[in-house]
Amino acid sequence: MPKHPTVTEPAIADLVETFYARIRTDPILGPVFLNKIAPDAWPAHLATMRRFWSSVMLTSGAYSGNPVGVHRAVPGLERPMFAHWLALFTQTAQDLFEPEPAADFATKAKRIAFSLELAIFHRLDAPPDGLTPPQRKSA
Ligand code: HEM
Repeated sequence: MPKHPTVTEPAIADLVETFYARIRTDPILGPVFLNKIAPDAWPAHLATMRRFWSSVMLTSGAYSGNPVGVHRAVPGLERPMFAHWLALFTQTAQDLFEPEPAADFATKAKRIAFSLELAIFHRLDAPPDGLTPPQRKSA
C-alpha cells in the first residue's frame, strides 16, 4: 500500500481503523479499551474518532464532545499509558502517511495527549510532577 501523501477523510478513516486494531491487541492498552467499549459499541467509537481527527486535522468541526470527562470515566486508565498511547499513534501515522503529514499528526496528538494527561491527573495539592513517590498498594 502506498502511503497517504495528504490528510483526507478516507486517509483518516484508514488511520483510525489501523490504530484501534493495534490498540485492541496491545498488552497495556487493549484491556482498558476492551473493558470500556463493548463489542457492539466499536463502530460508534471508530465513527467518533474519525470525526475527532477530522476536526483536529481538517478543522471540519465534525466532532463535539468532552474528552476530559469521558476519560475520567475510563476504569484502569493510568498516567503512564499516555506516553505509550502516543508512541503507538505516532508509529501508526508514520506507517500510513508520508513523513510530513505523519509529523503533523504526531505534533497534534502530542499536544492533545499532554493536555488530556494534565487535565485528568494533575493535582495542585500533590507533589510536583516527576516527584510523586511510587504508589504503595495498601494491604
Ligand atoms: C492514555 C491512553 C488512553 C486510553 C486508555 C483511552 C481510552 C479511551 C476509551 C476507553 C474511550 C471510550 C470511552 C467511552 O466511549 O465511554 C476513549 C474515547 C476517546 N478518546 Fe481516548 N484514551 C487514551 C488517550 C487518548 C488520547 C491521547 C486522545 C487524543 C489525542 C484520545 C481521544 C479520545 C476521544 C476524542 C474519545 C471520544 C470521546 C467522546 O466520546 O466524545 N484518547 N478513550
